[in-house]
Amino acid sequence: MNKDFLNVMYTRLSVRQFTGEKVKREDLIAMLRAGMSAPSAVNVQPWAFVVVIDRGTLDKLCEALPYAKMLEKAGAAIIVCGIPDKDDTYAKKYWVMDCSLASENILLAAHALGYGAVWTAAYADKDKIRSVREILSIPENIIPLNVIPVGIPANKDEKPKDKFKEENIHWEKW
Ligand SMILES: Cc1cc2nc3c(=O)[nH]c(=O)nc-3n(C[C@H](O)[C@H](O)[C@H](O)COP(=O)(O)O)c2cc1C
Repeated sequence: MNKDFLNVMYTRLSVRQFTGEKVKREDLIAMLRAGMSAPSAVNVQPWAFVVVIDRGTLDKLCEALPYAKMLEKAGAAIIVCGIPDKDDTYAKKYWVMDCSLASENILLAAHALGYGAVWTAAYADKDKIRSVREILSIPENIIPLNVIPVGIPANKDEKPKDKFKEENIHWEKW
C-alpha cells in the first residue's frame, strides 16, 4: 500500500493565495500527464488542455472570472476542456465526468509536486464559458470545464479541511 499517495489525497486543499513565482514547465507536463492518466468512459479521453503561462493572458482570465481572482498571483493556469463530439455516444454523455476525473488528477499532482491549485468554474455558466473561449480562442465545439490556477502557495501553514463524515457512509443498506 502506498501511504504517501493516500497522504497526498488527504492533505490536498484548494489554494487561493500564491507567491507569484513561475511554475516549472516539467512540473506542468507532470500535472498534464496525471490529468491524462484519468479513466474515461470506453477510454474515449474527450479532453484537451490549454496551458497558460503568459502574464497578460492570466490577467485577462482574472478580469473575466469573478471567482478566479487568485489568477492575479498564479504562475500558470490549466484549462481542462471537454470534447463532447469526440465520438457519437460516450463523449456526449460522459465528458463532464471524464474531464472532472482528469481535473482532480491535476489538482492532486500539483499538490504532490509542492504547488497549490484550485478548481474555478467555467462550465456550466454560459457567460464564463464564452469569456474563456474568447480569451483563449477555444473552438465552439470545445467546452472549457474549469480554469485551474497553479502556483506556489503563499501560506504554507494553511490546513486542509477534514471532510470525513461517518454519517455519509451507509454500510450494506441506506
Ligand atoms: C465544480 C467546482 C467548482 C468550483 N468553483 C470554484 C470557483 O469558481 N472559485 C473557487 O475559488 N473555488 C471553486 N471551487 C473549489 C471549492 O470551493 C472547494 O473545492 C471546496 O470549498 C472544498 O475545499 P477544498 O478543495 O479545500 O477541500 C470549485 C470546486 C468544484 C468541484
